[in-house]
Amino acid sequence: MDLFRKKPVSKGLPTSSLNRVLGALDLTMLGVGAIIGTGVFVLTGVAAAKYAGPALIISFIIAGLACAFAALCYSEFASMIPESGSAYTYSYVAFGELIAWILGWDLILEYGLASSAVASGWSGYFQGLLSGFGIHLPTALTSAFDPSNGTFIDLPAVLIIFLVTLLLSRGVKESVKINAIMVIVKVAVVLLFIVVGVWYVEPVNWDPFMPFGFSGVVTGAAVVVFAYFGFDAVSTAAEEVKNPQRNLPIGILSALAICTVLYIIVSLILTGIVPLDLLNVKDPVAFALKFVGQDWAAGFISLGAIVGITTVLIVMMFGQTRLFYAMSRDGLITKRLSYVHPKTHVPTFSTWTTGLLVSLFAGFVPLDKLAELTSIGTLFAFAAVSLGVAVLRKTQPELKRGFKTPFMPFIPALAVIFCVYLMMQLSAFTWKGFLVWLTLGLIIYFTYGYKHSRLNKV
Ligand code: ALA
Repeated sequence: MDLFRKKPVSKGLPTSSLNRVLGALDLTMLGVGAIIGTGVFVLTGVAAAKYAGPALIISFIIAGLACAFAALCYSEFASMIPESGSAYTYSYVAFGELIAWILGWDLILEYGLASSAVASGWSGYFQGLLSGFGIHLPTALTSAFDPSNGTFIDLPAVLIIFLVTLLLSRGVKESVKINAIMVIVKVAVVLLFIVVGVWYVEPVNWDPFMPFGFSGVVTGAAVVVFAYFGFDAVSTAAEEVKNPQRNLPIGILSALAICTVLYIIVSLILTGIVPLDLLNVKDPVAFALKFVGQDWAAGFISLGAIVGITTVLIVMMFGQTRLFYAMSRDGLITKRLSYVHPKTHVPTFSTWTTGLLVSLFAGFVPLDKLAELTSIGTLFAFAAVSLGVAVLRKTQPELKRGFKTPFMPFIPALAVIFCVYLMMQLSAFTWKGFLVWLTLGLIIYFTYGYKHSRLNKV
């Protein structure tokens, strides 16, 4: 049994027919489009109220650094192996099939559960907006399953997932133009919050700065790191980038830097306006402005957040469908998931499977649990990719790399240390969920994947 059989880099990979058209600015826009969403619009509330307090800004800096280190490693992999499947495909080349399977299975947590979490955040803002018009859904349909609160299913989340699945099944292409408009809407909404909110900041609300100590701040970082996810989507565009050695890192790091600055200002103002014990709500950014009587601005923010979060949902769900596709094409999961519709050229079965699974989780599991599970899965993938970059430099130095991670081996080492440290801050519940998920994955691999792998046939 060869559990570490590797996919060769040069064999079986599609030769690129894509044009190198994207510059650093395009990449920055793509990044901001994929990044700003539920994390800043929703999770800031619970992270400040339960863990970090006003020191949430430090949580954002720690989480941002972890992502920046990992981003540099992702860029090297992406420029070396420009194929769909992200960390799953990278590790198939670097570490062999078993590790690739574990990462692929793990990435389902990143894209699949992140989609559920993002949809659940969408639902919070959607309901906030409806309530502005005096419309209230029956309580049972407003939130995930929790009979003690009288809630059974998050219906708006399920509905938006259905709509996005429908869109993806028709073969929507991420369009650079639509993305640019969305980025402008999102950034405008965040700036509106800053410009209106700054006048209502009461510095007394910042005292105490760290009500739950430094351990609260790092736990907060492990929760809000979710707000940066999506940057890896940019690295998958490596093949289409002009001068990747220069533009890829500039694009990814600028997107992360812009988001970090915006997140820091938003958290400062948010915790400055609303007393901490009131912040644990589903739409904290809009709530803060309602709190100071600026209902008109709160309405615009809800609307902008709804539009902005939808784009993140599209990117994340798209990522999940392509992950299923890549794993199925390699024979590790059922062949049906790589069926491509002859007319639309969309992997239809994988798209609807994604829609079904994502809506089940979004409908029934609460947002904070979803976000933490997403974080643990994603941080694990970041650490593995970073390690993989360092390993491949040693084992396959001859491979052509469009972009090389600087300061080897320090950057990958820092990425691994930061990510593992953040993982260690997550709750026992999250770790149990993660381990159960990985065990289930291993059972599937040994009973199905190993036998059906395409590498058996070559
Ligand atoms: N970064 C994405 C968000 O905040 C996942 O929604």
